[in-house]
Amino acid sequence: MAEEKDEFELTNERIRSRMDKIGRKIMVMSGKGGVGKTTVTVNLANELAELGCKVGVLDVDLHGPNVAKMFGVEGESLSSADGVSFLPVKVKENLSVISLAFALEDPDAPVIWRGSMKMGAIRQFLADVEWGELDYLLIDTPPGTGDEQLTVCQAIPELTGTIIVTTPQDVAVLDARKSVNFSRKLGVAILGVIENMSGLKCPHCGKEIPIFGKGGGERMCLDMHVPFLGAVPMEIDLREAEDEGKNWITEGASHPSSQALAEIAKIINAGTACSTSRDTSSFAKPASCKPSSCATCTLNCPSRKK
Ligand SMILES: Nc1ncnc2c1ncn2[C@@H]1O[C@H](COP(=O)(O)OP(=O)(O)OP(=O)(O)O)[C@@H](O)[C@H]1O
Ligand SMILES: [Mg+2]
Repeated sequence: MAEEKDEFELTNERIRSRMDKIGRKIMVMSGKGGVGKTTVTVNLANELAELGCKVGVLDVDLHGPNVAKMFGVEGESLSSADGVSFLPVKVKENLSVISLAFALEDPDAPVIWRGSMKMGAIRQFLADVEWGELDYLLIDTPPGTGDEQLTVCQAIPELTGTIIVTTPQDVAVLDARKSVNFSRKLGVAILGVIENMSGLKCPHCGKEIPIFGKGGGERMCLDMHVPFLGAVPMEIDLREAEDEGKNWITEGASHPSSQALAEIAKIINAGTACSTSRDTSSFAKPASCKPSSCATCTLNCPSRKK
């Protein structure tokens, strides 16, 4: 008699059938907190949606879920059409989001969960959210390389890759290096690194103030042989737009930070992001390696998208 499948296997099967309907699955991560993961996730999602892609955003930052606020859909709650699966909250027709924030009655209530509970919640999101067909699932994570990141990578072995966010500051870069090595250890491709908060233009004199330094993210990329996706400057207007849940891609289109984020989304969407997964010893990347030149690159990069 065939052994009965346990709950874990059944959930895995549901995850498989959901994930099979989704094109690219990308996890946004960082070593240090507050460097701009959620900002990157939300803005990339907005630009990919502008480009006509069907996008889902999954917020697995269970202790500090900010995605809903940045999309301007906080206060929405989870619903179900069939009593079994959850429906994601629509930001617009081709952009939807799931966050634990939608399940909390009191937005100030802390989520006090151990690792096993977090793993269960993330797996349930992956198994039971009715996204339908998507071009992209962007997954926003808390800082670090712990339960949440591990659960995502193990539940979605076909993850397209990670995007690693850092500021140029040494302490942020130090921690971002751990995210690079986490991805490598788990055999997940690294789509690239984004240097956020890369200089602030003084609103008074127009001169650039390198609050967190400049170029630290790009230097790390050269050192660790990972693609650099671009630098995003600090802008007060961006921060204000996020607090108000406005779409910075469309509303801030004339601003350098909005343009930089839109450009990075286009690089990702072009599918040419060079990924340095697994073993990097078999190929050497030139110091000038950039995702945007990947399509014409002649190096034998093992996981380069053709
Ligand atoms: N380029 C930028 N210019 C101005 N403000 C920014 C920029 N990037 C992020 N911020 C602001 O900095 C704060 C931290 O950003 P964000 O929440 O995206 O970081 P995070 O890495 O997701 O943080 P956490 O680790 O807590 O999840 C937010 O208030 C956000 O609005
Ligand atoms: Mg965040």
